[in-house]
Amino acid sequence: MEIIRGKTSRDLDFNELTERLAGRNRIILDLGTGDGRYVHSLAEKNPGWFVIGLDSCRENLHENSRAKMPNMLFVIASAQDLPGELSGLVSHITINFPWGSLLESLLTGDPRLMRGLEAISNSMASLDLRLNGGALTQAGWSLEAGADQIYSNMIQAGWQVNTPAAMTASDLRNYPSTWAKRLTFGRDPHAMILSGWFAYAQSVERKAMVDR
Ligand SMILES: C[S@@+](CC[C@H](N)C(=O)[O-])C[C@H]1O[C@@H](n2cnc3c(N)ncnc32)[C@H](O)[C@@H]1O
Repeated sequence: MEIIRGKTSRDLDFNELTERLAGRNRIILDLGTGDGRYVHSLAEKNPGWFVIGLDSCRENLHENSRAKMPNMLFVIASAQDLPGELSGLVSHITINFPWGSLLESLLTGDPRLMRGLEAISNSMASLDLRLNGGALTQAGWSLEAGADQIYSNMIQAGWQVNTPAAMTASDLRNYPSTWAKRLTFGRDPHAMILSGWFAYAQSVERKAMVDR
Protein backbone atom coordinates (compact mmCIF):
# COMPACT_ATOMS: atom_id res chain seq x y z
CA MET A 1 0.00 0.00 0.00
CA GLU A 2 1.12 3.58 -0.59
CA ILE A 3 2.25 5.49 2.48
CA ILE A 4 3.30 9.13 2.78
CA ARG A 5 5.66 11.06 5.04
CA GLY A 6 5.95 14.77 4.37
CA LYS A 7 5.92 15.03 0.58
CA THR A 8 7.48 11.62 -0.01
CA SER A 9 5.37 8.59 -0.73
CA ARG A 10 6.46 4.98 -1.16
CA ASP A 11 5.15 1.44 -1.04
CA LEU A 12 4.93 -0.43 2.28
CA ASP A 13 4.45 -4.17 2.01
CA PHE A 14 2.76 -6.56 4.41
CA ASN A 15 6.05 -7.75 5.98
CA GLU A 16 7.23 -4.24 6.81
CA LEU A 17 3.79 -3.36 8.15
CA THR A 18 3.83 -6.48 10.37
CA GLU A 19 7.24 -5.45 11.72
CA ARG A 20 5.99 -1.95 12.53
CA LEU A 21 2.92 -3.30 14.28
CA ALA A 22 4.81 -5.89 16.34
CA GLY A 23 3.62 -5.97 19.96
CA ARG A 24 0.75 -3.54 19.41
CA ASN A 25 -2.77 -4.77 19.87
CA ARG A 26 -4.67 -1.49 19.68
CA ILE A 27 -4.62 -0.37 16.05
CA ILE A 28 -6.73 2.64 15.11
CA LEU A 29 -7.66 3.62 11.56
CA ASP A 30 -8.89 7.16 10.87
CA LEU A 31 -10.67 7.07 7.52
CA GLY A 32 -10.84 10.35 5.58
CA THR A 33 -8.17 11.73 7.91
CA GLY A 34 -7.80 15.09 6.07
CA ASP A 35 -4.65 16.85 7.32
CA GLY A 36 -3.95 14.06 9.85
CA ARG A 37 -4.09 16.33 12.89
CA TYR A 38 -6.31 13.91 14.81
CA VAL A 39 -4.00 10.95 14.08
CA HIS A 40 -0.94 12.92 15.14
CA SER A 41 -2.61 13.96 18.40
CA LEU A 42 -3.85 10.42 19.19
CA ALA A 43 -0.47 8.81 18.44
CA GLU A 44 1.34 11.38 20.59
CA LYS A 45 -0.98 10.85 23.58
CA ASN A 46 -1.04 7.04 23.30
CA PRO A 47 2.45 5.71 22.57
CA GLY A 48 1.23 2.12 23.08
CA TRP A 49 -1.32 2.40 20.28
CA PHE A 50 -0.64 2.33 16.55
CA VAL A 51 -2.59 5.01 14.69
CA ILE A 52 -3.11 5.01 10.92
CA GLY A 53 -4.61 7.91 8.95
CA LEU A 54 -5.99 7.20 5.48
CA ASP A 55 -7.14 9.67 2.85
CA SER A 56 -7.43 9.78 -0.92
CA CYS A 57 -6.02 13.32 -1.02
CA ARG A 58 -2.25 13.56 -0.35
CA GLU A 59 -1.71 17.33 -0.44
CA ASN A 60 -3.27 18.03 2.97
CA LEU A 61 -1.11 15.41 4.67
CA HIS A 62 2.29 16.97 4.06
CA GLU A 63 2.61 18.72 7.42
CA ASN A 64 1.30 16.30 10.06
CA SER A 65 2.77 13.20 8.39
CA ARG A 66 6.28 14.66 8.63
CA ALA A 67 6.73 13.92 12.36
CA LYS A 68 8.88 10.86 12.99
CA MET A 69 6.73 8.79 15.34
CA PRO A 70 7.05 4.99 15.52
CA ASN A 71 3.33 4.50 16.15
CA MET A 72 1.89 6.66 13.34
CA LEU A 73 1.39 5.96 9.65
CA PHE A 74 -0.39 7.72 6.79
CA VAL A 75 -1.83 5.80 3.88
CA ILE A 76 -2.99 7.18 0.52
CA ALA A 77 -5.97 5.12 -0.61
CA SER A 78 -9.63 5.33 -1.41
CA ALA A 79 -12.14 4.35 1.26
CA GLN A 80 -13.89 2.27 -1.40
CA ASP A 81 -10.72 0.27 -2.07
CA LEU A 82 -9.06 -0.22 1.32
CA PRO A 83 -5.59 -1.81 1.23
CA GLY A 84 -5.55 -5.60 1.61
CA GLU A 85 -2.50 -5.26 3.89
CA LEU A 86 -4.85 -3.99 6.65
CA SER A 87 -7.05 -7.12 6.57
CA GLY A 88 -8.22 -8.18 10.02
CA LEU A 89 -5.86 -5.77 11.82
CA VAL A 90 -7.91 -2.78 12.89
CA SER A 91 -9.40 -2.64 16.40
CA HIS A 92 -11.02 0.81 16.16
CA ILE A 93 -12.19 2.86 13.17
CA THR A 94 -12.94 6.58 13.23
CA ILE A 95 -14.62 8.45 10.39
CA ASN A 96 -14.67 12.12 11.32
CA PHE A 97 -16.85 14.59 9.41
CA PRO A 98 -16.78 12.82 6.03
CA TRP A 99 -17.69 14.57 2.81
CA GLY A 100 -17.57 13.78 -0.90
CA SER A 101 -17.55 10.17 -2.04
CA LEU A 102 -16.86 8.88 1.48
CA LEU A 103 -20.07 10.47 2.77
CA GLU A 104 -21.94 9.35 -0.36
CA SER A 105 -20.83 5.73 0.17
CA LEU A 106 -22.02 5.85 3.80
CA LEU A 107 -25.38 7.26 2.65
CA THR A 108 -25.87 4.62 -0.05
CA GLY A 109 -24.44 1.71 1.95
CA ASP A 110 -21.89 1.22 -0.88
CA PRO A 111 -20.80 -2.44 -0.61
CA ARG A 112 -17.21 -1.52 -1.64
CA LEU A 113 -16.92 0.58 1.53
CA MET A 114 -18.97 -1.70 3.79
CA ARG A 115 -17.10 -4.86 2.76
CA GLY A 116 -13.81 -3.04 3.11
CA LEU A 117 -14.65 -1.94 6.67
CA GLU A 118 -15.57 -5.52 7.55
CA ALA A 119 -12.37 -6.86 5.94
CA ILE A 120 -9.99 -4.58 7.85
CA SER A 121 -11.74 -5.07 11.21
CA ASN A 122 -10.50 -7.54 13.79
CA SER A 123 -13.02 -9.62 15.74
CA MET A 124 -13.50 -6.94 18.42
CA ALA A 125 -13.54 -3.85 16.20
CA SER A 126 -15.42 -0.73 17.27
CA LEU A 127 -16.31 2.38 15.31
CA ASP A 128 -17.02 6.07 15.89
CA LEU A 129 -18.56 8.04 13.06
CA ARG A 130 -19.00 11.81 13.36
CA LEU A 131 -21.23 13.64 10.90
CA ASN A 132 -21.61 17.34 10.31
CA GLY A 133 -24.76 19.14 9.23
CA GLY A 134 -23.10 21.26 6.51
CA ALA A 135 -21.69 18.26 4.60
CA LEU A 136 -25.04 16.47 4.77
CA THR A 137 -26.90 19.57 3.59
CA GLN A 138 -24.55 19.73 0.58
CA ALA A 139 -25.31 16.06 -0.11
CA GLY A 140 -29.05 16.85 -0.01
CA TRP A 141 -29.88 15.54 3.47
CA SER A 142 -30.77 17.05 6.80
CA LEU A 143 -28.35 16.08 9.57
CA GLU A 144 -30.96 13.93 11.35
CA ALA A 145 -32.24 12.15 8.20
CA GLY A 146 -28.70 11.56 6.92
CA ALA A 147 -27.56 10.20 10.28
CA ASP A 148 -30.60 7.86 10.39
CA GLN A 149 -29.88 6.66 6.86
CA ILE A 150 -26.24 5.92 7.71
CA TYR A 151 -27.31 4.26 10.97
CA SER A 152 -29.59 1.87 8.96
CA ASN A 153 -26.84 1.15 6.43
CA MET A 154 -24.32 0.34 9.16
CA ILE A 155 -26.78 -2.03 10.86
CA GLN A 156 -27.49 -3.63 7.47
CA ALA A 157 -23.75 -4.14 6.99
CA GLY A 158 -23.44 -6.01 10.30
CA TRP A 159 -22.50 -3.23 12.73
CA GLN A 160 -24.22 -2.85 16.10
CA VAL A 161 -24.59 0.92 16.28
CA ASN A 162 -26.18 3.12 18.92
CA THR A 163 -28.81 5.55 17.65
CA PRO A 164 -27.18 8.82 16.46
CA ALA A 165 -26.58 11.34 19.25
CA ALA A 166 -26.02 15.10 18.98
CA MET A 167 -22.52 16.43 19.61
CA THR A 168 -22.49 19.52 21.81
CA ALA A 169 -20.47 22.67 21.08
CA SER A 170 -18.08 21.62 23.83
CA ASP A 171 -17.72 18.09 22.31
CA LEU A 172 -16.68 19.73 19.04
CA ARG A 173 -14.40 22.27 20.69
CA ASN A 174 -12.53 19.58 22.60
CA TYR A 175 -12.19 17.14 19.72
CA PRO A 176 -8.67 17.33 18.25
CA SER A 177 -9.46 17.31 14.52
CA THR A 178 -9.23 20.27 12.16
CA TRP A 179 -12.82 19.94 11.01
CA ALA A 180 -14.16 19.77 14.56
CA LYS A 181 -12.43 23.12 15.16
CA ARG A 182 -13.78 24.58 11.90
CA LEU A 183 -17.29 23.48 12.80
CA THR A 184 -17.08 25.01 16.26
CA PHE A 185 -16.60 28.42 14.68
CA GLY A 186 -18.62 27.84 11.50
CA ARG A 187 -22.14 28.77 10.44
CA ASP A 188 -23.61 25.28 10.92
CA PRO A 189 -22.04 23.76 14.04
CA HIS A 190 -24.50 20.85 14.18
CA ALA A 191 -22.95 17.42 14.35
CA MET A 192 -23.91 13.91 15.40
CA ILE A 193 -22.02 10.82 16.50
CA LEU A 194 -22.77 7.15 15.86
CA SER A 195 -20.78 4.62 17.88
CA GLY A 196 -20.79 0.87 17.64
CA TRP A 197 -18.87 -2.31 17.08
CA PHE A 198 -18.73 -4.96 14.41
CA ALA A 199 -21.02 -7.82 15.32
CA TYR A 200 -18.50 -10.45 14.22
CA ALA A 201 -19.86 -13.26 16.37
CA GLN A 202 -23.38 -12.41 15.28
CA SER A 203 -22.45 -12.34 11.58
CA VAL A 204 -20.70 -15.72 11.85
CA GLU A 205 -23.85 -17.11 13.47
CA ARG A 206 -26.05 -15.54 10.74
CA LYS A 207 -23.83 -17.03 7.99
CA ALA A 208 -24.04 -20.46 9.63
CA MET A 209 -27.84 -20.19 9.58
CA VAL A 210 -27.86 -19.20 5.89
CA ASP A 211 -25.47 -22.04 5.04
CA ARG A 212 -27.58 -24.60 6.95
C1 LIG B 1 -14.20 17.35 5.86
S1 LIG B 1 -12.73 16.49 5.66
C2 LIG B 1 -12.50 15.81 7.33
C3 LIG B 1 -11.05 15.62 7.64
C4 LIG B 1 -10.72 15.10 9.04
N1 LIG B 1 -11.37 13.83 9.31
C5 LIG B 1 -11.05 16.10 10.12
O1 LIG B 1 -11.88 15.81 10.99
O2 LIG B 1 -10.43 17.17 10.12
C6 LIG B 1 -13.23 15.00 4.76
C7 LIG B 1 -12.07 14.16 4.23
O3 LIG B 1 -12.59 12.97 3.61
C8 LIG B 1 -11.72 12.64 2.54
N2 LIG B 1 -12.41 11.75 1.61
C9 LIG B 1 -13.54 12.00 0.92
N3 LIG B 1 -13.85 10.94 0.15
C10 LIG B 1 -12.90 10.00 0.38
C11 LIG B 1 -12.68 8.68 -0.11
N4 LIG B 1 -13.50 8.13 -0.97
N5 LIG B 1 -11.61 7.99 0.35
C12 LIG B 1 -10.76 8.55 1.24
N6 LIG B 1 -10.91 9.79 1.74
C13 LIG B 1 -11.97 10.51 1.31
C14 LIG B 1 -11.37 13.99 1.92
O4 LIG B 1 -10.22 13.93 1.12
C15 LIG B 1 -11.22 14.86 3.17
O5 LIG B 1 -9.87 14.89 3.59
